[in-house]
Amino acid sequence: MNQHLLDVVNFKNEDIMSYISKARDIKMFLDLGNNLTCLKGKILACLFFEPSTRTSCSFQAAMLKMGGSVISVTDKYSSVEKGETMEDTIHSLGCYADAIVLRHPLKGSSHLAASISNVPIINAGDGNGEHPTQALLDIFTIYSELGSLDNELVITFLGDLKNSRTIHSLIRVLCLFPKMKFIYISPDSLEMPSEIVSFVEEKGIEQVKSMSLEEAIKEADVLYVTRIQKERFTDISLYSTISKYCVDAALMSNAKEKMIVMHPLPRNQEIAVEVDKDPRAVYFKQMKYGLYMRMAILNTLMH
Ligand code: NCD
Repeated sequence: MNQHLLDVVNFKNEDIMSYISKARDIKMFLDLGNNLTCLKGKILACLFFEPSTRTSCSFQAAMLKMGGSVISVTDKYSSVEKGETMEDTIHSLGCYADAIVLRHPLKGSSHLAASISNVPIINAGDGNGEHPTQALLDIFTIYSELGSLDNELVITFLGDLKNSRTIHSLIRVLCLFPKMKFIYISPDSLEMPSEIVSFVEEKGIEQVKSMSLEEAIKEADVLYVTRIQKERFTDISLYSTISKYCVDAALMSNAKEKMIVMHPLPRNQEIAVEVDKDPRAVYFKQMKYGLYMRMAILNTLMH
């Protein structure tokens, strides 16, 4: 049976801790100047039907750093452009590769791919559904920067809570740690989907909506910011009516000394560039944690 990574729904606390421990071991091993060759002879296929910089490059780098190779397909330069279905493309890549990383604009697409694939499918984002590998790298970042997931932690989510698949997956994973509290701040029409709110409620985790970023930032241990997902608007004229938000140095002066600011990137205007030099801004470090976590994921699924 193939071991796919499609969502975080069935994850247990031990699974998360095991991924974190593997990623830490890999980081330590590489920091000592060692090289890894554990995926030598293996091929990873990256199949992206939506733009990507970090996810696609970090999977490729992760594979290369373990001695493996990568083949990449984008919809614009493949037979998808000639009308080939995703299913046929998945069948084809399964003939050449040992695993497939898939990003697709349709929610549920990775489940469909997994149902027909003869090699592991890794969901690298399915529309406004899930982004499980981002959730793992995000929780690895929180663990590494704040030291533990068992303490009381207030996570403030700011932005397009309706469409941010990174948030949807991360929240589900954080719910495995009972001392979390979530604060949600979003434009009115982009609130957290009721499906996620119910999930959090069932887990008995405290969640509140806030209207004031100035107030919410005072309490936060983590401020997780996302951009407005313009490409998910069915009526694009509504995009310009959305009130924009921005984390700047003045706002940061209200935050705890040990709070961290995260962002899956790409950013638009929601974090001012002046915040980049604040030591609490960890969104670039987050990418480095992502490389180790994606090595841990590939090592687990392909070894
Ligand atoms: C995110 C995504 O694609 O969901 N980016 C990422 O994977 N690092 C966030 C976004 O596009 O806003």
